[in-house]
Amino acid sequence: MTHDLQITGLTKSFGPNRVLHGIDLAIGEGEVVGLMGPNGAGKSTLIKILAGVHRADGGAIRFGGSPVADLASRGDVGFIHQDLGLVDELSIVDNLRLGEAPMRRLGPLLDHRRERAEAAAALERVALDCRPETLVGDLSSGEKTLVAVARMLARGARLLIVDEATSTLPPRDALRLVDALKRTAQEEGATVIMVSHKLSEILRVTDRVVVLLDGRLVADQTAVGLDHDALVRLLVAHEAEAADRDAAPVTAPPGEELLRLEAACAGRAGPVDLQVRAGEIVGLTGLPGSGLHDVAFLAHGALRPRSGAVVRAPGAASALVPPYRERQGGFDDHAVRDNLTISALERWRAPWRLLRGGHERRDAAAMVGRLSVHPADPDRHYGELSGGNKQKVVFGRALFRDPRVYVLCEPTRGVDVPTRREIYRLIGELRDGGAAVLVVSSDFEDLLSVADRMAVVDDGRVGPFRVPSDLSDTDLEAFI
Ligand SMILES: Nc1ncnc2c1ncn2[C@@H]1O[C@H](COP(=O)(O)OP(=O)(O)OP(=O)(O)O)[C@@H](O)[C@H]1O
Ligand SMILES: [Mg+2]
Repeated sequence: MTHDLQITGLTKSFGPNRVLHGIDLAIGEGEVVGLMGPNGAGKSTLIKILAGVHRADGGAIRFGGSPVADLASRGDVGFIHQDLGLVDELSIVDNLRLGEAPMRRLGPLLDHRRERAEAAAALERVALDCRPETLVGDLSSGEKTLVAVARMLARGARLLIVDEATSTLPPRDALRLVDALKRTAQEEGATVIMVSHKLSEILRVTDRVVVLLDGRLVADQTAVGLDHDALVRLLVAHEAEAADRDAAPVTAPPGEELLRLEAACAGRAGPVDLQVRAGEIVGLTGLPGSGLHDVAFLAHGALRPRSGAVVRAPGAASALVPPYRERQGGFDDHAVRDNLTISALERWRAPWRLLRGGHERRDAAAMVGRLSVHPADPDRHYGELSGGNKQKVVFGRALFRDPRVYVLCEPTRGVDVPTRREIYRLIGELRDGGAAVLVVSSDFEDLLSVADRMAVVDDGRVGPFRVPSDLSDTDLEAFI
């Protein structure tokens, strides 16, 4: 049987909201297709329909020529969502075999050797250099994703569908993953559909780029000959007004010191010495496990130093954008407005401690507009937003606190290209308004775009600071 996928006239609404307006898409065997488009465009919804999580309202799906309701629980189709479905407490072999009958040799004797050999072969297919007995909990997030891919391949998946699996990975792991997908397509003829906002990944591995916008397919073209600028043009063609907003240039030299870490240690971080002054953006990058986020938690005061000190200038409060919005980000069952205003309610308190509801509503609506949250409805439940739009709300919450110190972790994780630029512009505005900004991001492109000086965190320590514009290509390669 062939493994080509044909989608015709697919529609889907959530309540009165139409999210997919008749999607037609045909994907041939062996193609690597990048599915792109702004936050809230409907990419995950399309994939969740294929996965059987949501049911389409209309339209048809054909796989290998036959009509199907969805592609759930088929051995020849594998999905990678952000939740990988791996068990940390089990070894790689056991995870690969999870849910399958044990291999038997004679009668009740289990054939562990064969299981191990097959696991080793599966790991080789994704170029993962680990012993099959390793506990999954000891792997990095990128290695876990590769185990999930190995598991799909070991089960005979011929169509691999990957929704933003790289957005939480450091650059090196993200490249390993997309390269493994590409190799499977080239060497084994598998078909790959991958959702990503990262241009470099899309350009590196895809044969074809499909762009969704507001539930409609607005571009579908070969990736051959497509370069970075052409892809940006394709993505922002429909968002002209967002096209030329880059971070504002530095206007004034930094002022007084607002935040200082003195040989501070907590979690995996330390000892860290670091100063951030009013009117400057300091960037830190590093691999997972380096203690990068612990430095951020220390700076914000979410982690107490077990030795050393964290000193903030008198009256200099700090606001934090946490790194994992899915777990630490917001309250799913509450309105977007409440999620925006919850940590700054004092702003809207009248005398006698009454809340000025009208002002709160007006300001929340303005923030939704300023950050282009989509849908632009502050009454919508946070849990119903797409991944990138959740990120914008978490960012907006920090802005409402209007502190003098900002600690922004992974500020652009999962956001689309125009919004990424918008966030860079906002960070520039915070600096120009006199705030001390610490941007902590495993995506060093963020730092190249916004930071006035940047350093790498390794083994809990902050390395020497560099000015991004002074970095050569070789310096940049060393970051990956
Ligand atoms: N369970 C749900 N209930 C109501 N609306 C939803 C639900 N899931 C998604 N939506 C809405 O459907 C639209 C498309 O969301 P979807 O998650 O498909 O976007 P996306 O293209 O994956 O965006 P992102 O790049 O941010 O992940 C959004 O407007 C979102 O708010
Ligand atoms: Mg999505």
